[in-house]
Amino acid sequence: MRIERLKGFAYGGDYNPEQWGPEYWVEDMKLMKKAGVNLISLGIFSWAKLQKDEQTFDFSWLDTVMDLLAEYGIAADLATATAAVPAWAYGRYPDLFPVDKQGNRLWYGSRQTYCPNSPSYHRLTAALVRMIGERYKDHPALAMWHVNNEYSCHVSVCYCDTCAAEFRTWLKQRYGTIDGVNASWGTSFWSQWYYSWEEVMPPRQTTTQHNPGQVLDYQRFMSDSLLNCYLIEKHILREITPDVPITTNFMLEWKPLDYVKWAKEIDVITWDSYPNPAVGVHPARNALDHDLMRGLAGDKPFMLLEQSPSQVNWRKVNTVKYPGLNRLYSMQTIARGGEGVMYFQWRQSRRGAEKFHAACITHTGDEHSRVFKEVVSIGKELKELAELSTSKIEARVGIIYDYENWWAVEYAPGPSGEVSYRAIVLDYYTACYDAHIPVDIIFQESDLSAYDVVIAPLCYMVRPSLAQQVERYVSNGGTFVTSFFSGIADEEDAVFENGYPGPLRTVLGIQVEEFNPLEDHMYNVIANREQAGESTVSLWTEYVRLEGAQAYAEYTQDYLAGEPAVTRNTFGEGAAWYVSARPEAGYMRELLLHICTEAKVKPLITAPLGVEVTIRTGSAASWMFILNFTREPVTVDLGEYSGTDLRDRRTVRGKLEVAGTDLRIIKLD
Ligand code: GAL
Repeated sequence: MRIERLKGFAYGGDYNPEQWGPEYWVEDMKLMKKAGVNLISLGIFSWAKLQKDEQTFDFSWLDTVMDLLAEYGIAADLATATAAVPAWAYGRYPDLFPVDKQGNRLWYGSRQTYCPNSPSYHRLTAALVRMIGERYKDHPALAMWHVNNEYSCHVSVCYCDTCAAEFRTWLKQRYGTIDGVNASWGTSFWSQWYYSWEEVMPPRQTTTQHNPGQVLDYQRFMSDSLLNCYLIEKHILREITPDVPITTNFMLEWKPLDYVKWAKEIDVITWDSYPNPAVGVHPARNALDHDLMRGLAGDKPFMLLEQSPSQVNWRKVNTVKYPGLNRLYSMQTIARGGEGVMYFQWRQSRRGAEKFHAACITHTGDEHSRVFKEVVSIGKELKELAELSTSKIEARVGIIYDYENWWAVEYAPGPSGEVSYRAIVLDYYTACYDAHIPVDIIFQESDLSAYDVVIAPLCYMVRPSLAQQVERYVSNGGTFVTSFFSGIADEEDAVFENGYPGPLRTVLGIQVEEFNPLEDHMYNVIANREQAGESTVSLWTEYVRLEGAQAYAEYTQDYLAGEPAVTRNTFGEGAAWYVSARPEAGYMRELLLHICTEAKVKPLITAPLGVEVTIRTGSAASWMFILNFTREPVTVDLGEYSGTDLRDRRTVRGKLEVAGTDLRIIKLD
């Protein structure tokens, strides 16, 4: 389902008119028109201003704002306002309070203070959503429903008694019997055996390490509990307005929710991007999340629902987006297949916790700020790009991203507490990004045969279907790449019998006998056997035995000297690669280039580091984006491509200069 009425890209932001008197609202509309705004997220934190007590609602101000939006031809991504519960509710319904691991109640006075399993929260939100749904279902400004806001942003886990009881119900559904839980969690260990359901608890504060099975299941349960909150709202809205798309906004680098499961329930995938604008942050970090959202969306649209037009207020030091950077990040969304660019927020607050967070209209209160001028010019540029809005990204390389793997890798005590799932995924992603090879982010259940190369970094937990698919995929000619600490555990987080890499052993043609994680000050060196190339490796090394695979690179130091470090196994028509350590970025780039070249996947063009290159393909034309995230001019080589530069309608081919913090969009011949 799309936002039909937007011809071209969505552009706008969070609008919080309740923070301002009505005398500002018409001025806001005029400035929105000036900036090319066509979509506004409205009422996200408005619950207290819409409902005074359980019986009394007041929608008068929201009616006025919705009418104004309709009058000015601006669409509303209308919120259900359930992201912050009003103070009056807590006195009557104490089950609303979330409880932390230590048993402390979290008080209201901020936002998102609710227990995901609170029956009162479910009942109160359902009533509010029904009121809003019925009231605005036919309003001409309504374009999309915005359910809640950034689920789990502040309270991703609650440990209260209600959650404990719900957890038991969830476990009953998953395992049937208490002995099923015992078997899965391995409670013979440390005398943790449970004889009755009442003994089972959330992983509350305890003496030392928790049972990892319990922790993993609690994370699954919490993600499901929050999803249930979303679904309660979604079902009401769907019943009232079957044709209005529904979204809830995802977050950057977000671990607590299994977004793969969530995405199936969302019509337009939206997310909030807040990269640190301090110079030196690799743009691949943000690009990865765009590609993740595109992957989660599948055939549905995805868009950026929030970004700051300049600085945020929640880092220790909040640097601005220097001139041009907002445009570059906005266009990165478009370059990676997004269908809209939105901000937090429209007008900068004068009071409250976010008063120093940037906004489109800054504290100057007028249209003359640098930030507003940039917002206006990006709006204009997006309008001119309307014909691109339904074009797509095509990739021959897929990187598998898996939330349960993320949890399992980081929650199990040992072998190294320094292993970050996201960082290792980013290593592989960045290698492709820097080599200008387009990537799709895919999932364990995706169809691998759609790709020439499939990379599964830190594929610690392997579900049976994935193991079978990988064997089939490689034997049919695919190239599979995985990293250290892969093929370790099954879905219950039990280590595979007969060691590592478990069900990937045959296809990889290796056995891993021992992990040797490295402390910060430690390193080893690996060197390719035949081709030039070596790298220091950090974080992790392994003792790998070859069982049919060949060593592509070997360790050169310490007791591992001469042992395989990177291996390649020919399996059927394809090849399976294993990287047993964490090499440097330059080595990773060369390695991935080598693997891709062997699989006949080429970089799009030749361009220096710090330059992002993508192609959006439509039914009648394709467009190349070249984004220069460095602050210096760069020269790229378009190779076989030529086309029309959208900026000046000139024909371009061969070498092309792109100024620092600038971009080119080329309609390809
Ligand atoms: C987001 C949130 C917004 C605003 C913004 C500030 O996480 O959805 O409401 O707080 O951060 O950066």
